[in-house]
Amino acid sequence: MLSKPMQKALNEQIMHEINSAYLYLAMSMHSSSVGLQGFATWLRVQWQEELAHAMKLTEIVHDRGGRVALQAVEKPPAEFKSPQDIFHQVLAHEQKITALINRLYETALKEDDYATQVEVQWFIKEQIEEEKNATTILDQLTMAGESGASLMMLDRALAARAAH
Ligand code: FEO
Repeated sequence: MLSKPMQKALNEQIMHEINSAYLYLAMSMHSSSVGLQGFATWLRVQWQEELAHAMKLTEIVHDRGGRVALQAVEKPPAEFKSPQDIFHQVLAHEQKITALINRLYETALKEDDYATQVEVQWFIKEQIEEEKNATTILDQLTMAGESGASLMMLDRALAARAAH
């Protein structure tokens, strides 16, 4: 059985993951509207991945006899300045999520909840990947600079990201 503080912390993380999904969906919609279909695809897959993270957390709560209480999500921005702006925001957002996942793990430690510690370790590893992916794309955008041709090549490469 989950302790009350553990259940509360897991419910908060579900909200953060759905917030992430919603932010990336907004970024995907914006990218689509400016003709960057590859960026739109990549971000849409990321939207799905964030929803999968949220659902994984709901399963952890349910498997342990807890209750999921969904919370309000934030309204994401509708406009972004550029792909560089988007990926700066993606990286900053993932760094924030990493800190929240670490805090979730600290709660599991404090509650002597060994089962949740094991579950949260998956998310700790996942955050390494999440930050790495955002950093790689940001580096590529920096290399592309002002070159429209390089941006189009990167857009084409990102279109190859497939949904899991
Ligand atoms: Fe669910 Fe992007 O971390």
